[in-house]
Amino acid sequence: MNRLYIFDTTLRDGEQVPGCQLNTIEKIEVAEALEELGVDVVEAGFPVSSQGDFDSVVALSEVLKLPTVCALTRAVEKDIDVAAEALAKARRSRIHTGIGTSDYHIISKLNSSRDAILERAVAAVKYAKKYVEDVEFYAEDAGRTDNEYLARVVEAVIAAGATVVNIPDTTGYCLPDEYGNKIRYLAENVSNIHKAVIATHCHNDLGMATANALAGIANGARQVEATINGIGERAGNTALEEVVMALKSHRELGVETNINTKRIYETSKLVSKLMNMPVQPNKAIVGRNAFAHSSGIHQDGVLKNRENYEIIDPKDVGIDENSIVLTARSGRAALKHRLSILGHGDISQERLDEVYSEFLHLADKKKSLSDGDILALVGEKNNQKIKLNYLQVICGKRVRQVATIRLDISGIKFEETASGNGPVDASIKAVKKIIAYSTDIDIEEFLIQAITKGSNDVGKVHIQVRYKGKIHYGFSANTDIVTASVEAFIDAVNKIDMMKL
Ligand code: KIV
Ligand code: ZN
Repeated sequence: MNRLYIFDTTLRDGEQVPGCQLNTIEKIEVAEALEELGVDVVEAGFPVSSQGDFDSVVALSEVLKLPTVCALTRAVEKDIDVAAEALAKARRSRIHTGIGTSDYHIISKLNSSRDAILERAVAAVKYAKKYVEDVEFYAEDAGRTDNEYLARVVEAVIAAGATVVNIPDTTGYCLPDEYGNKIRYLAENVSNIHKAVIATHCHNDLGMATANALAGIANGARQVEATINGIGERAGNTALEEVVMALKSHRELGVETNINTKRIYETSKLVSKLMNMPVQPNKAIVGRNAFAHSSGIHQDGVLKNRENYEIIDPKDVGIDENSIVLTARSGRAALKHRLSILGHGDISQERLDEVYSEFLHLADKKKSLSDGDILALVGEKNNQKIKLNYLQVICGKRVRQVATIRLDISGIKFEETASGNGPVDASIKAVKKIIAYSTDIDIEEFLIQAITKGSNDVGKVHIQVRYKGKIHYGFSANTDIVTASVEAFIDAVNKIDMMKL
């Protein structure tokens, strides 16, 4: 097998996305997760861009033991000095320097010429080599750079000492064949190419980032630059999990990575949570629905043999949950399977038929049925013991965020007040003060989605909680997202109670 190096740029290209900025502590949390995931290189930031980025590169250099820590620079001496200083404590360090090579960049961005840019590229690599052995050169906008000129630049920077040559499709313009041919052209026409690793760095503007990275690999690239969940500038970067799982699913490609795929889902959730970037439900590999079968025919097929409809075992990416979503299209086999998971495996055929007809009736009204609904159908009635009776929150800028909550629990009213770091946090803390056991409930996923656009929109809240090792889901929708959040939490809490844990 050929080894492919995974260069993660979640903390640099990913972090450039507005709203995704992390503080140093959060960056350390993500970097440690990436280390556990098994990435080879962590691009920790662009040190000259801000004090915060500089400090993060310093912190990650101190913390990371196995991956190479990489810092981005322009082909500017000051950038390289600052990057070298930030990387000083890294066990393995790399400077990633480069410059635009397409005529767009050369003429209308840099106001320069091809020959002058080639000289600057070589000078930057030589300068970086004074500090570190491992120097990666990026030819920005290589996707739209003339191949013959690109080959000249690549040959010159390798001669100057570059250990990795990065061929970014900065604008996400290339089609897979085009990008693959570019990599092959370099592999075949750069005389010293064997002295460096070719890297892909693909953006997703046309939805081709993963396909382009795979085309690059097929033509000789041995480093892929990617981000968790594919986050990154505009439409994002190559999604790390997609490339890794494509290679794992297609062993015939003969390329392997060091990634512990069982850590993929956890890492995806961590990045989504810390960077405030919800993962689209149908996102390949890590989306909520990536392994959820809802049609009866598929469910039946999966129950007979998972591989009938699944090319990846969800456990391989760290997803341990049941993948059958019960809807009006589900058959008896799927219902029976879910009942057995819920402790009703011994149900008779006659009773199953009865429950199934009630199930179809209910499923016609609800989009999908929860475990609580199923248990209610077999007789464990969900009487929604806890109800939100009253909620008042004080929130805003420069005020203490305080919530007062009144819950109706089996007809008796309880009231509590709590403060938190925002109105939702304060409200949930108030609920937890009332329901003693809910302090042991961990919120694992919390997703607020607007249904349409506009400030008068209804917000839908999905919540996933873990209590004593079991997962429960809650849902609510309201024009007031704080109310929807509290109700979704209570919805999940009611399910725990009903299951008599
Ligand atoms: O997309 C790009 O060209 C980049 C470079 C800075 C590597 O992110
Ligand atoms: Zn990029």
